[in-house]
Amino acid sequence: MAKKPVTFTHNGEEKAAFVSDGQNLLDVLRRGVGDLTPKYGCAQGTCGACTVIIDGAPRLSCLTLAETVEGAEIDTVAGLADGALSPLQDAFMTHFAAQCGYCTGGMLMSAAALLKHNPRPSREEVVEAISGNICRCTGYEAIIEAVLTAAANGGLRRTGAR
Ligand code: FES
Ligand code: FES
Repeated sequence: MAKKPVTFTHNGEEKAAFVSDGQNLLDVLRRGVGDLTPKYGCAQGTCGACTVIIDGAPRLSCLTLAETVEGAEIDTVAGLADGALSPLQDAFMTHFAAQCGYCTGGMLMSAAALLKHNPRPSREEVVEAISGNICRCTGYEAIIEAVLTAAANGGLRRTGAR
C-alpha cells in the first residue's frame, strides 16, 4: 500500500512520517516517532488514554487520521517537562493522582489543554475537561485536586521557565 509523507511539529520539533491510508495518529506517534506517552487503550474513542493536544485542543489520537495532521502542532506528555517536571505533573505526584498510570498521560493532556486556555479553572471546569478520560483506579478526586493545585502553582510552566 502506498504511503503518504506527512510533516508536523511534535513538542516543538519538526517531524516527518510516511503514513498509510487509515493509519491513526496514535500509531504514528508511538511507532513512527517513538513517543510512547500517548497510550493505547480502547482504540475506539471511549477511554481518553491516547489524548494529545493538536493545535491547542485536546484530541483523541486513536480517532485522528494521521494524514490529517499535515502542518499541525502536536503536543504530548513527552513535551510537558522542561528540564524539571511541570507544576501539573508535580501536582499529580503530590496528590497521588496516578495509580496504575495508564490513564495518566491522557489526563495530563486534557488538563494541559484546559490550563492553556483557562489558567484558573473552577472545579466544574476541571471535571468537564477530564470527562472524556476514564480512570479505573483513582476515583477522580485526587486528579481533580491535582489539576486545581497545578492551576494555583503556575499551571504548565514553572515561574521563570520559558
Ligand atoms: S485509546 Fe483512544 S480513546 Fe481509548
Ligand atoms: S491510574 Fe489507573 S486507570 Fe487511572
